[in-house]
Amino acid sequence: MPRVRPSPVIPHLAREQANAVELYLQYKGYHWNVAGPWFRDLHLLFDEHAGTVFEMIDPLAERQRMLGGAAAYTLESVHRASTLPRETGLPSTTREMLERLLAAHRVIIEGMHEGFKAAEHDGDPGSADVFARFVQAHEKMEWFLRELVSEPPQIPEDTTRTSPVGEKGTFTSPLAGSHPPTTFPGHPLTS
Ligand SMILES: [Fe+2]
Repeated sequence: MPRVRPSPVIPHLAREQANAVELYLQYKGYHWNVAGPWFRDLHLLFDEHAGTVFEMIDPLAERQRMLGGAAAYTLESVHRASTLPRETGLPSTTREMLERLLAAHRVIIEGMHEGFKAAEHDGDPGSADVFARFVQAHEKMEWFLRELVSEPPQIPEDTTRTSPVGEKGTFTSPLAGSHPPTTFPGHPLTS
């Protein structure tokens, strides 16, 4: 029987399978250990992202088998194949959690771009599709995390508009002055 040429895409799939396992554990670790004023939002977001990453492990492993490779499953072999920055202990702030996750997503996004190129070069549309779909999910997760550590974009002020009432660039409510101040009888702050 002729030997099947091992696909050059297998190492890309193996690396991203390992990265998915490691990132899944990292997300779960942060989901369990996050604390502070954003607790609820981050606890839920980290679990949602963990679920998205978990769903990628199986297709990445099975695709290696389809192409003639073996899928790693021991923690040791996964750890060896992963290219994510090593977790050396729990981050001391939520900001650090977000930054470490951002760094992990960026490594994976770059790796999936490489995998996509290798698959296209090898005439393997199935693997190219896996990388194309998964990289979009990583880009979305990276965006969600990035916005949590960013300021809102600055929208340039429109100085050409004239308000229907009042001076250019100002607005005076036609109701201004017509309402008495709101008071709640007996309320310590308004009465
Ligand atoms: Fe949970």
